[in-house]
Amino acid sequence: MITPELIEQMPKAELHVHVEGTLEPELCFELAKRNHIELEFATAEELREAYQFGSLQDFLDIYYQGCAVLIEEQDFYDLTWAHLEKAHQQNIRHTEMFFDPQAHTSRGIPFKRVVDSIAHAMTDAETKFGLSSHLIFCILRHMDIESALATVDEAIKFKDQLIGIGLDSSENGFPPNLYTEVFERARDAGFKAVAHAGEEGPPDYVWEALDILKIDRLDHGNRSLEDEKLVARLVEEQMALTVCPLSNLKLRVVDEMTEHPLKIMLDKGLKATVNSDDPAYFGGHVNANYLTVSEALNLSVNDLYTLARNSFDASFLSADEKKTYIDELDNFAQENGWK
Ligand code: ADE
Ligand code: ZN
Repeated sequence: MITPELIEQMPKAELHVHVEGTLEPELCFELAKRNHIELEFATAEELREAYQFGSLQDFLDIYYQGCAVLIEEQDFYDLTWAHLEKAHQQNIRHTEMFFDPQAHTSRGIPFKRVVDSIAHAMTDAETKFGLSSHLIFCILRHMDIESALATVDEAIKFKDQLIGIGLDSSENGFPPNLYTEVFERARDAGFKAVAHAGEEGPPDYVWEALDILKIDRLDHGNRSLEDEKLVARLVEEQMALTVCPLSNLKLRVVDEMTEHPLKIMLDKGLKATVNSDDPAYFGGHVNANYLTVSEALNLSVNDLYTLARNSFDASFLSADEKKTYIDELDNFAQENGWK
């Protein structure tokens, strides 16, 4: 039987979490005070109560407002550190995090300040907790292509600190083909490529992410299930999907958790993983995502094992590093009589 304790103790990786989406209302207020920024809400509780979203865009409007409190190096460090501490508490062994440089550079904050301070917290988490992590810079779809290309050029200067390029923000109306040159430039520079697609957007967007952006991993991908040929392609290539159950519920991608497609994905042989997306906004970190979806879909321990194994396998770690983590997971599974 799957229990909260089992999920907590299980070694796992998280591959889809936005650093800015880990900004808890309490820290948001603290940073606003530190930086003399006035928020629209009187208290952290009031802000949390406003986290009711009808769509992805509803959420993004609040998410970008939250970004405005992040100014100094210490702010980005504190934000990242708070998240990595939580990740460690949840037995996350490895995490691949997104950040949105344009949400900061567009406010006059230097790219270097953002990357250096996030990377500093990542190094500290490796030293203190043995928690490994990678960082992915995302291109904001709603901004222009010049800004996207300039962001890639900046990212190239910080190649040692960044593993890949991602694509996020408003999906509908912004098909992946718009970012052909942007992704080509990033891939040529040696970055891995991932993209949010099929969260709200149609299966065509997923095809484009595969064929045009040449992604190594698909973020969300829920709507791929509407296209059988696409599912067959994703299965054949063993393309990993970073699925985010609580996000899908909060952003109305699904009406009820019992209708979440995760179990169908696994049964079809899709390489699905479980992730939190923007935990401060969606009511739970990675373990809450595992627990909620396990209960709603009656997942088996075998499903749980597959999800955790996929999380390591779909990471951008080396083969040796993956093996070390998967051996640890196998030991855990054996101790619990799963294998
Ligand atoms: N930025 C942060 N979270 C996002 C999501 N779920 N979809 C698109 N852009 C995002
Ligand atoms: Zn996301």
